[in-house]
Amino acid sequence: MSSSGMGTDWIASRGTPLHGTLAVPGDKSVSHRAIMLASLADGTSRIEGFLEGEDARATEAIFRQLGVEIEVPGPGRRVVHGVGIDGLRAPDGPLDCGNAGTGMRLLAGLLAGQSFDSVLVGDASLSRRPMRRVTVPLARMGARIDTGEGGTPPLHIHGGAALQGVEITTEVASAQVKSALLLAGLYAAGTTTVREPHPTRDYTERMLQALGWPITFSPGYARLEGGQRLVARDIVVPADFSSAAFFIVAASVVPGSDLVLRRVGMNPRRTGLLHVLRAMGADVEETPAGEQGGEPVSDLRVRHAPLHGIEVPTEHVADMIDEFPALFVAAACATGTTVVRDAAELRVKESDRISAMAAGLRTLGAEVDETPDGATIHGGASLQKGTIESHGDHRIAMAFAIAAQRADGEVRIRDVDNVATSFPGFDALASGAGFGLRTAVPTV
Ligand code: S3P
Repeated sequence: MSSSGMGTDWIASRGTPLHGTLAVPGDKSVSHRAIMLASLADGTSRIEGFLEGEDARATEAIFRQLGVEIEVPGPGRRVVHGVGIDGLRAPDGPLDCGNAGTGMRLLAGLLAGQSFDSVLVGDASLSRRPMRRVTVPLARMGARIDTGEGGTPPLHIHGGAALQGVEITTEVASAQVKSALLLAGLYAAGTTTVREPHPTRDYTERMLQALGWPITFSPGYARLEGGQRLVARDIVVPADFSSAAFFIVAASVVPGSDLVLRRVGMNPRRTGLLHVLRAMGADVEETPAGEQGGEPVSDLRVRHAPLHGIEVPTEHVADMIDEFPALFVAAACATGTTVVRDAAELRVKESDRISAMAAGLRTLGAEVDETPDGATIHGGASLQKGTIESHGDHRIAMAFAIAAQRADGEVRIRDVDNVATSFPGFDALASGAGFGLRTAVPTV
């Protein structure tokens, strides 16, 4: 235990310019969906590039509890013996999604269509996150799901509900909500149609199609019929753009850096940060490197460049929703002011990311004004040493590891164990590239 009594702390400080060629781990969103859909398919699917992070592993453990045999032939590899669309069996106890909002929300839809009851639980952070965004529209399909008080987990899902396809326009732009409805739609009578206020990542749609389920989709729209079958297929998980994002920002802000990130997943619903960083002056050279698992992948060469603040165009917000912690750091290191709007969703992620980033950056000496749906970050101040609370949020921890590369003095980042949910091995990869980053020596 660290002196915080909450888990491991990092001590991060200026390192050297970032150099080398890195490969970041597999995509979290795709890894969850690969386990889920391969489990429901007829036949055996091999998954390559599976993210060995706690979130995806929690989903894997849940499908084992639901009666699916999953082999682990090596790191990042899984062999899933699908049980067919109606082959899941009643679990022997609560299903623990850990920290994973994606796991819980997608499973809410999928389990609503089963014949048996199930209970979804999560860790302290997940237990605070809003679930009515899925349970309310799922109820319109006939699902019966009880939430805790305030619409939070645990979720008690009553089996045996006769689901009915509906036409829904989601209130928030959320791939998790859309996916929950589509997964319930697999078990519904008739057609399920989902429209979104802004297009979100379409991995569920793409993977359903790849596994043979007829589906029509375009940005912001998806439609499918219940009562079909999925056919097993090998799935290659591309490298996670959201993990690469920390290195893209780091190399942009650390003088002298020249870093290559290999074969990064470039789904256009994920790469909003690149548009914004380039508009801020970043130097990112993109070399397409074919496809992986039906997704475009590119090698990205990132060289340090002076950044300037901008108003983040709101049309990019959904396409970079997980990248704001890193963007806040880029903005603090830029000259001028960066304005983020229309991003209230950041307040209901693994932590309230607007307030966590604003508080942490202020601790390091930056000026940040919070607004209900974003922030104004005044760049250019030289960052100082300080102690940062990660709030148990992996992306806050990694974002401040970058900020520390520009700080005068040591930055202690508290409670970083959660980095293992999405990016196991971040510290080793970062140190190897030139970050000043080590685990704090426990003081208690
Ligand atoms: C995800 C969707 C996003 C994202 C999360 C992963 C997914 O959440 O923040 O990390 O895999 O569908 P929302 O759907 O809540 O925007």
